[in-house]
Amino acid sequence: MSDEKTTQNLKVAYTAESKALVRNRLFAEIADEEGYEQIGKLFRAVAEAESVHAKNALRMLGEMKSTEENLQAAFESEMEAKNDHYPGFIKQAEAEEKSAAALIFSRARDVEERHAQLYKGALDYLVKEEVADYYVCNVCGYVAEREAPDECPICQAAKDAFKMVG
Ligand SMILES: [Fe+2]
Ligand SMILES: [Fe+2]
Repeated sequence: MSDEKTTQNLKVAYTAESKALVRNRLFAEIADEEGYEQIGKLFRAVAEAESVHAKNALRMLGEMKSTEENLQAAFESEMEAKNDHYPGFIKQAEAEEKSAAALIFSRARDVEERHAQLYKGALDYLVKEEVADYYVCNVCGYVAEREAPDECPICQAAKDAFKMVG
């Protein structure tokens, strides 16, 4: 097997394990809501294990670098999502009259720009002593710094839709 094929496989493994991680966490929330405590624990335990697999693949791909380089990589992937991925998704959804999908894609596109700005701005935090919490909109993924807004600027969700991540 050539190195090139292995690199491709590492990328596929990273993507698949990352997907399983997110999905298992969501399945755990559903299990909790349905009162299946043990199944919730199982989904969370396997999610944690998938994150080990994802991390191993990412490390082997050489994508775990210094914070300064990671900020740059994170900035670039947000811009790529905003400029290269979501516009086509939105167009396609509109052409198929899938308005709910078009809405979540366009909100995501707008939020990606915000994420990119935060990464760019965060380069300052590398030199400053200041520490601030973030607040994430659980409807559209908008991220506010320091405090939650009264209304989400992207989806208009109320303040209580924001979850503090510190
Ligand atoms: Fe993003
Ligand atoms: Fe929002």
